[in-house]
Amino acid sequence: MIDGLTGRVAVVTGGASGIGAACATLLEESGAVVLVADLGGDDPVDVTDRAALDALAGRIDAEHGGLDVLINAAGVLTPNLPVDELPTDDFRRAYEVNVIGTVNTCQAFSPLLRARRGAVVNVASQAALVSLPMQAAYTAAKGAVAALTRSLAIDWAEAGVRANAVAPGFTLTPMTEAFFENEVFTEAATKRIPLGRILGADEIAAAIVFLASPLASAITGVTLPVDGGWTAGEPALPW
Ligand SMILES: NC(=O)c1ccc[n+]([C@@H]2O[C@H](COP(=O)([O-])OP(=O)(O)OC[C@H]3O[C@@H](n4cnc5c(N)ncnc54)[C@H](O)[C@@H]3O)[C@@H](O)[C@H]2O)c1
Repeated sequence: MIDGLTGRVAVVTGGASGIGAACATLLEESGAVVLVADLGGDDPVDVTDRAALDALAGRIDAEHGGLDVLINAAGVLTPNLPVDELPTDDFRRAYEVNVIGTVNTCQAFSPLLRARRGAVVNVASQAALVSLPMQAAYTAAKGAVAALTRSLAIDWAEAGVRANAVAPGFTLTPMTEAFFENEVFTEAATKRIPLGRILGADEIAAAIVFLASPLASAITGVTLPVDGGWTAGEPALPW
């Protein structure tokens, strides 16, 4: 449970699975009213569909009287390929969901967030900070999410709306579970993580919900690595 969220209204895109679902659970445990916007939710919403998001904003205003928190966790990977072989359509899809999807929700919910001096948390990736091999489109798109977050923070600062991002490392969710079924991959990834383990979705959600809460009232424009130390450097050497 995170303090300061009782009675707050929150939208979580991608909230039907993995990191988004863990955010929805923690927000609810913290007393917030949570609306999930996900292709796989009870009431499917596609973040690439701006008209659907405008309609959702209207419904939230009518039924809940405003919005305090927006968490953008909807995201997609592309097939693992070297950049030379990456189909342009895969590149477009990575941008369409991860970047334009985030722009769409920020624009659609901006009037509601401004009215309540709300907070946005975007889910980038450690790939926003260091390259993820064979994932050029995802890496570029998540880098754009981090840059977009800085722009949102500056453009919305006067209105008192904060915008931050987290950059998760390898986390066990439906997006990655197939990778972790491969023992060779899991051993290599685990060895590369200074904390020496794959992360849990609840650990990423804790950082996201903290940034969305009044506890982070002085923080805007950051991309916070939540990666077990991956972007800090290589694990210790046996000197
Ligand atoms: N799992 C990891 O290791 C990891 C690491 C770094 C960043 N991330 C990022 O965290 C976020 C959550 O990933 P996850 O691991 O929980 O994956 P996940 O696949 O479990 O969840 C992603 C959710 O997004 C939804 N979604 C996808 N496209 C959508 C669209 N167009 N409109 C609405 N919803 C859509 C899916 O239906 C799904 O419920 C993603 O942005 C991902 O890129 C994940």
